[in-house]
Amino acid sequence: MASSRRSFLSLSAAASTAVALRYIGEPMLARAARHPKAHEGVMIDSNENPLGPCAAAREAVVNIAPQGGRYSDWLTDDLTKQLSELEGVKVEYVRVYAGSTEPLHHSVAAFTSPQRSYVTADPGYEAGMFTAAAVKAKVVKVPLAKDYSHDVKAMLAAGPDAGVFYLCSPNNPTGTLTSHSDIEYLVANKPKDSIVIVDEAYIHFSDAQSVMDLVKADKDVLVLRTFSKIYGMAGLRCGALFARPDLIEKIENYGGGNFMPITAMVAASASLKDGRLVPERKHVNTQIRSSVFAWLDHNGYSYVPSQSNCFMLDTKRAGKEVIEAMAKQNVHIGRIWPVWPTYVRITVGTAPEMDQFQTALKKVMTAAVTASVGPPALPRKGRQGELPVRA
Ligand SMILES: Cc1ncc(COP(=O)(O)O)c(C=O)c1O
Repeated sequence: MASSRRSFLSLSAAASTAVALRYIGEPMLARAARHPKAHEGVMIDSNENPLGPCAAAREAVVNIAPQGGRYSDWLTDDLTKQLSELEGVKVEYVRVYAGSTEPLHHSVAAFTSPQRSYVTADPGYEAGMFTAAAVKAKVVKVPLAKDYSHDVKAMLAAGPDAGVFYLCSPNNPTGTLTSHSDIEYLVANKPKDSIVIVDEAYIHFSDAQSVMDLVKADKDVLVLRTFSKIYGMAGLRCGALFARPDLIEKIENYGGGNFMPITAMVAASASLKDGRLVPERKHVNTQIRSSVFAWLDHNGYSYVPSQSNCFMLDTKRAGKEVIEAMAKQNVHIGRIWPVWPTYVRITVGTAPEMDQFQTALKKVMTAAVTASVGPPALPRKGRQGELPVRA
């Protein structure tokens, strides 16, 4: 009896360690909700960039392939140095990873515990919550403010025992911003020994001011960046962490240090050298997003105005039904967040993809109205660019 209880305990310990070591990120979350044949249709469900890597990055990948037999660690050093120069931070404040999921996971594992909670926005990017839950930290979800920014005062009030405050700006899934001054306020008033993780995965699509200056000023702030979004390298895998060296040391106790794929290193490096890439892609994304918003306004659909490559569309009925109906039209849209069950996340794809999205949405929503035999939905704001009320 005693021994079976012991083995049960050790098994459960092994199981929770296994969970703690597992990375949950956007591709897994999107895949969990995805139709098996999604790749054969329009995939606007996981905030990828349909443009892929820029021409110089593709060329760099091809050119480095013959050297794939070597680890070539200096390429990681070169990219680290390049990022430090570009951002104006010392090189010891920068670490490169295969995407930003990994440093997010390690940071949450390092700074949360059963005694130190994880405070995040709702709706917000879910990945860190899985790590917090795996280390048995309390997960505290704080609704976004009325303007869809992070409600930093409410986050502070909800986390007197916080180990981590996680902010994503522009936020995934809403694409809305949290101001630099709000983040500064959070950093100035947070509990001692906690850290603020600012996930800037989508920052290049927006006009948001980065908080890299807070890293430079040696605050308890971590900035995460990825090459998966504007740089179109989700499948090549490259991301970076920027933080004070003593914070990095704590985070590295929880993993990291694996050799980076040389294809990712050279592609990232070539992308950073292309000075036109970010402004051009930002412009393309803004144009397509604005034209989709104009169409939605014209047709009376509500959405949350976004500054990113994704936005939340109010379907005014169970979002899951719309996801399924859209999949039947071969258009695969993103998931719902339980706090807003009538909203679905849409990624901004190419112009032809968004045309297909619009055609399919019209069909699906018209069919929904025609088929409806219940009482009319409660009136909601949101037409013609007004902010929709929250579910
Ligand atoms: C908010 C946010 N952070 C981080 C990531 C990390 O992605 P990756 O591991 O590809 O860098 C994503 C991906 O969608 C994301 O949405």
